[in-house]
Amino acid sequence: PKASAEHFAPSNIALCKYWGKRDSELNLPVNASLSVSLDTLGSRTRVEPIEAASDEVWLNGVRQVSDSRFARRVSGFIDLFRIRHPELAFRVDTHNNIPTAAGLASSASGFGALTKALVDAFGLGLTATEQSIIARLGSGSACRSLFDGFVEWQMGVREDGLDSHAVALEQTWPGLSIGLIKVDESEKSVDSRAGMQRTKETAHLYQSWPLQAASDLSRLQQAIETRDFALLGSVAEQNALSMHATMIASWPPLLYWQPGSVAAMQKVWRLRAEGLAVYFTMDAGPNLKMLFESASAAALEAHFPGMEIVQPFGV
Ligand code: DP6
Repeated sequence: PKASAEHFAPSNIALCKYWGKRDSELNLPVNASLSVSLDTLGSRTRVEPIEAASDEVWLNGVRQVSDSRFARRVSGFIDLFRIRHPELAFRVDTHNNIPTAAGLASSASGFGALTKALVDAFGLGLTATEQSIIARLGSGSACRSLFDGFVEWQMGVREDGLDSHAVALEQTWPGLSIGLIKVDESEKSVDSRAGMQRTKETAHLYQSWPLQAASDLSRLQQAIETRDFALLGSVAEQNALSMHATMIASWPPLLYWQPGSVAAMQKVWRLRAEGLAVYFTMDAGPNLKMLFESASAAALEAHFPGMEIVQPFGV
């Protein structure tokens, strides 16, 4: 490697979820997905070659034990880059500026930023598409964090995964807003990786998921093209709930919701019945991500005082 390198990658929120793999080694998905990147929220990662027998992994200023799950995952990912120089060791220093209150997953931005930093440190000069393919090997959703704005992860059909990467959509949507609602920030007992595997293996309901996702993806593309917020919000919400339905139908059952999650959902439905254009999406955890346009922000904040607003298009 030529030197140290430091890069930022944004978090992304899926409006059509990635849930289920056709290849778990290469993180090749069962379905295509679509997300929006969070402009300024994400991970900043610095990598630096060090004289040591093994890697040093730091997260938010805290040294991680080398046999922790996080450190092993990071080192395993660096192995992809040092095939020809297995003796190299690195210090990896990652800072997430995602508000702790958000309860947002950080593996997507983390592997996105780590990919950019390693590609730079090794002087590889790869395109964003090539980096997206590599980031995917760290964490599937990370392939979308290589791009800003609306991003589609094309699932691809090849066994080697070289056609499974993200692409940026051209459209923007000034005023589109995401509100982070923290219901519970304790670490989830079953992570997405294990959760999607269990769902795929045990839930018959999962058979309908690829159809749901394909239809949702094309309706989202249409919503983005025509800037139809009601369509965007309703498709994203139905997509998230459909994913959760397959989780609940797994065995042992996977229910990420807590009473506070359900209360927040019911509040959203009540506000919508009263005419406020707000929808939500959720990932493999109890927290909600509200979707709305900036004109509704004040009204919504009155009902959700702890909400943290992010604007993916930086307006
Ligand atoms: C529910 O990308 O974390 O957030 O590929 O095993 O690392 P691995 O899974 P990961 O899964 C994310 C799942 C999701 C939906 C999404 O972001 O599309």
